[in-house]
Amino acid sequence: MCGILGYTGDRQASGILLAGLARLEYRGYDSAGIAILNDGKIKVAKNKGRLKVLEDRINAGEEVSGTCGIGHTRWATHGEPSDVNAHPLWSDDMAVVAVHNGIVENYREIRKMLGEHGYTFYSQTDTEAAVKLIDFYYKQEKTPLRAITQAIKKIEGSYCFVLLFKDFPNEVWGARKDLPLIAGQGKGESFLASDVSAILQDTRQVYYLDNMEIVQLKKGSVRFFDGEGYATHKEISEVTWDANAAEKGGFEHFMMKEIHEQARAVKDTFGAVYHSGKIDLTEKGLSDEAIKSVSQIYIVACGSAYHAGAVAQYVIEDLAKIPVRIEMASEFRYRDMPMDKNALAIIISQSGETADTLAAMRRAKENGIKTLAIVNVVGSTIAREADSVFYTMAGPEIAVATTKAYSAQLVACYAIAVKFAKVRGVIDDSECERLIAEIQKLPEKIDEILDEKGSLEAIAHRFINARNAFYLGRNIDYAVAMEGSLKMKEISYLHSEAIAAGEMKHGPISLIEKGMLVAGVMTQKNLYQKMASNMLEARSRGGFLLIVSPRDCDYLKDEADFVFHVPETDGHFTASLAVIPLQLLGYYVAVARKLDVDKPRNLAKSVTVE
Ligand code: AGP
Repeated sequence: MCGILGYTGDRQASGILLAGLARLEYRGYDSAGIAILNDGKIKVAKNKGRLKVLEDRINAGEEVSGTCGIGHTRWATHGEPSDVNAHPLWSDDMAVVAVHNGIVENYREIRKMLGEHGYTFYSQTDTEAAVKLIDFYYKQEKTPLRAITQAIKKIEGSYCFVLLFKDFPNEVWGARKDLPLIAGQGKGESFLASDVSAILQDTRQVYYLDNMEIVQLKKGSVRFFDGEGYATHKEISEVTWDANAAEKGGFEHFMMKEIHEQARAVKDTFGAVYHSGKIDLTEKGLSDEAIKSVSQIYIVACGSAYHAGAVAQYVIEDLAKIPVRIEMASEFRYRDMPMDKNALAIIISQSGETADTLAAMRRAKENGIKTLAIVNVVGSTIAREADSVFYTMAGPEIAVATTKAYSAQLVACYAIAVKFAKVRGVIDDSECERLIAEIQKLPEKIDEILDEKGSLEAIAHRFINARNAFYLGRNIDYAVAMEGSLKMKEISYLHSEAIAAGEMKHGPISLIEKGMLVAGVMTQKNLYQKMASNMLEARSRGGFLLIVSPRDCDYLKDEADFVFHVPETDGHFTASLAVIPLQLLGYYVAVARKLDVDKPRNLAKSVTVE
């Protein structure tokens, strides 16, 4: 998820671009760059590092004069953060220069096709392939519009491009599919931005591009075209948000914005390994031979990443029939445990910088164990030191309490589980296809749940003064209970504990008091009855029963105080749905308590100390 900007008018573009990019830096900040079209030449300034590095390098833009330009702050997905991989990227003759937000899923095929036409590549990015594809058609079609319409027919994935064409002075072009692109109309000037917050200080008159639409900016005008190149008409809108709200996409907090980004995070993460009808992990260091040679799996992580691993333990064991141990990184690193040389260590970390997890990974490597990191930040330390890395495509996660990165970790683990099960001959083709189809339906089911979030906001007020809570579950639901409990405690400061439901009678049940929140996660059909008994034991002692279950679970419908139904899915993947209402419950209790949801006390987004 990157920050993108375009400007053409009578003012110096570099200053406007730098100011606008500063407001987009939360969307990605591992590198930044601008390109200015002036006097028939396009000048590019870009580098790895924060926007400030770029500003200092070009003396706040004074070194790059011109009144038409584009800019970018990057969140790397393909290609490490580096000067070369920073945007803008260009065709070899600088005829076409562009910035991009999104993922070109078929960039390998595009690079191959272009290579056969003499194109070479200087970066590791998917973006360069797209820019050169546009250039390939531009050389034939001679106009930006026809070049873009031809290219977007070939590009698969989600994208938002903003481009300069050397031979078209004072023009900025854009195209989008699945990712937002806004056009702004000022007096004698116009703008393009990936997020309205970047241009609010210059104009509140905006157009929201529809999917597959193309836009042409000139100094005082904005024109739109459909994917075939035919002119379209759009109504202008007035933005009423303030800049701060706009950064959060109109949500009150980044956490709620990111809860709503989970469907895309899940779709893009699975899409990163699902090509032409198959899950392909070869680029993750897991060839079929390597998969067959794995004797057991250690999953090592902290916090929510550990909870994702706890789900994965059940899913991988059940599907692939391979022993899996889940280990807290802070424990694993000091455990003197015999390690199986043919084991695979899966290291899960959103930030890729967590000290305990990094140390645990190094410990596994010292013991000759192969390491696969599941990481959200490209080029992070854990990603660089692991033997191979599976990047989650959640985009930058700003809220300290993780949501979309956790969900992306889950789906990465599902892909590993299904691939292992297929390669090791545990499931056949049809079962593999069925499971893949279930995974591919998760994003729409996550969004269905979000449509029902109002009931959780209402019930959350009941716990505004609560002091304790239990989260119960069995099997995968116990792992979900762990994450639900952490969400509650870390942002609403309500003490909560996740308990394997069968353990309640061995002690914890003594803590139940009248009205105490007892949340039960019930998605494993074969355990419905067992869970119902545990929940009734809690109710008979005064607990307030909150149940998360699919519609087909009709246990406790009379006894529960509150039931939230989630859509049906295969039992292996229910965590991706059951966790959503628990994220929302924690969020709404924190909001009701007027706490700082995005930056809870005592916490940091990346725990780089032991
Ligand atoms: C997540 O909500 C927590 N803030 C925290 O537990 C986090 O999951 C943990 O610190 C691990 O971080 P990582 O995924 O960046 O390694």
